[in-house]
Amino acid sequence: MESARPAPPAGEAAPPPPTPSPTPLERCATGIEALDAILAGGIPRGNMVLVAGSVGTGKTTLTLEFLIRGAERGERSLFLSVTEATAKLLQNVGSFEFFRTSLIEDGSLVLVDLPAITSKLGFDRDELSHEDLDLLLRTIHDLVTSLGIRRLVVDSITSLGYRIPRDEQLRDFLLRLGEILAEANCTSLIVSEISPTPGRYSTRGVEEAIVDGIILLRSTRRLGDILRVLQVVKMRGTSHSRALYVLELTPIGILLAPHLKGGRTVEE
Ligand SMILES: Nc1ncnc2c1ncn2[C@@H]1O[C@H](COP(=O)(O)OP(=O)(O)OP(=O)(O)O)[C@@H](O)[C@H]1O
Ligand SMILES: [Mg+2]
Repeated sequence: MESARPAPPAGEAAPPPPTPSPTPLERCATGIEALDAILAGGIPRGNMVLVAGSVGTGKTTLTLEFLIRGAERGERSLFLSVTEATAKLLQNVGSFEFFRTSLIEDGSLVLVDLPAITSKLGFDRDELSHEDLDLLLRTIHDLVTSLGIRRLVVDSITSLGYRIPRDEQLRDFLLRLGEILAEANCTSLIVSEISPTPGRYSTRGVEEAIVDGIILLRSTRRLGDILRVLQVVKMRGTSHSRALYVLELTPIGILLAPHLKGGRTVEE
């Protein structure tokens, strides 16, 4: 039972009620151990995070591992593929030692070709109209809520963006997608394909302002070696390291090690 607070002496204002301490945010552990350590436990649940990187930096591999690790923990996961056929992705995930086909068979991991959805919805033009985008968002909403999706990947927003030519339409689409996913408490990774120019996280400059977090993947050349590196640029709702980590893609999953300073590095 709450104890009564003593009444203030006559003439004095009552002290303000104690400020409730903030409840810690629930985390969505990515399952990539070193990344979870960087993020103090994982991505704040419901966040929409951009995974930005130039070609071959490991964007698809990282996002697939995030989904597989989630599916293993009983969090149903959905991969919306815009560029690569899901049949081909399935062949690639077979090289992960931690992948089990039963995750696909029991519906814990769902891979969907976005072009198949858009053609089923009857979008025959290259450019999507406002109504098309409304319908696409409603379809994603229905998929997420009916299947109880807790983790979602869109690979990539850059390719989908070619069909959304106006920046304000793309901004509106992403804002509404973020709202739908946050409401469903679904944590998402949105892939952004960028050129190796430092300082950019998307080709249009729209996505990075809307998302809650940015994980940047890059290739650098050092002493003749080409290294893949990862950096968490921003993540709303948590403190995190902004240091550079060397990323290794291995059959047991993504490994990260601190990037040692020194030596001349060149962007690839
Ligand atoms: N498990 C693995 N072990 C070792 N190397 C791997 C593994 N998975 C992928 N790779 C290598 O990493 C490369 C890049 O992987 P990935 O397809 O994830 O990059 P990406 O950034 O999505 O590329 P893109 O820009 O073409 O979409 C692949 O071409 C492959 O050579
Ligand atoms: Mg890819």
